[in-house]
Amino acid sequence: MQELEGKVAVITGAASGIGRAFAERFAAAGMKLVLADVEKEPLEAVSAALAEGGSEIESAVIDVREPSALAGLAERCEARFGGAHLLCNNAGVGVGGPMWEVTPKDWDWIIGVNLVGVINGIHAFVPSMVASGEPGHVVNTASIAGLTCPAFLGPYNVTKHAVVALSESLLNDFRATGASIGVSVLCPGWVQTRIHESDRNKPAGTPADSSDPNLDAMRKVLGDLVSGGITPQQVAEQVLEAVLDDRFWIRTHPEMEPDVRSRCERIIAAETPKLMAPTEIK
Ligand SMILES: NC(=O)c1ccc[n+]([C@@H]2O[C@H](COP(=O)([O-])OP(=O)(O)OC[C@H]3O[C@@H](n4cnc5c(N)ncnc54)[C@H](O)[C@@H]3O)[C@@H](O)[C@H]2O)c1
Repeated sequence: MQELEGKVAVITGAASGIGRAFAERFAAAGMKLVLADVEKEPLEAVSAALAEGGSEIESAVIDVREPSALAGLAERCEARFGGAHLLCNNAGVGVGGPMWEVTPKDWDWIIGVNLVGVINGIHAFVPSMVASGEPGHVVNTASIAGLTCPAFLGPYNVTKHAVVALSESLLNDFRATGASIGVSVLCPGWVQTRIHESDRNKPAGTPADSSDPNLDAMRKVLGDLVSGGITPQQVAEQVLEAVLDDRFWIRTHPEMEPDVRSRCERIIAAETPKLMAPTEIK
């Protein structure tokens, strides 16, 4: 996409962190916005602030795990703005701990939000983006955990690797069919957001996280790493540039490149992966 002014951006997970920064940056670029999140008050706050600044906003409290919720969002987008140009599948949650201790309900939750949520967004919005014939772009938020496998982040690593594979496959489908739609996959390291407080959005009936002292210590480490990360605004700036440049990989943390390189080299050499603890992700 070369032109953003007057075009329509859809953002899931728009009420907080990276999604909110996307909304602010795209609004500053003159885009109309469709904002979605499961958290009502923060979504209303960001929508009101941007509307006050003169942006045209459609917002909806939805759970991205529900295909019908994304279908409804696409209908509202069509009715209000005539369709979407930039789709950002960004809503995400974190679940950690040794793989064998993660409950089936937690697996359902994280796969539902981080992977099925992206699939639902694509299914709801992409057909009309393709049919319109207009230039468009899809940004899927993965993570550096889509390219590396730190210990105690198994469910997160699994879903983010899937989002990387999904994004690359989507790009190939667009190219193979001649669709004028670009794809970017966002793979950040630590960013100052509320991702380490994802439990606030756990669905009813999902057991509370175990209060195992090792897990508590890990949560503290993750909180420190997140608060020492880059700002969501820095991420949003890089995403805007990638959309304009039609760049697939959005890699925000150059200091993590050696870990990715070393993993790829070990795959090619068929060497056992090296141990990677969350604290080793600088
Ligand atoms: N913060 C980091 O260090 C980091 C690093 C790499 C990738 N990411 C990814 O960035 C994305 C945004 O997360 P963030 O870091 O801004 O965290 P955040 O918690 O600040 O924001 C995530 C947003 O997603 C929303 N959300 C959660 N479940 C939802 C659901 N079922 N339906 C709709 N919305 C839902 C939350 O309410 C929240 O507003 C996520 O996909 C996350 O995995 C974050």
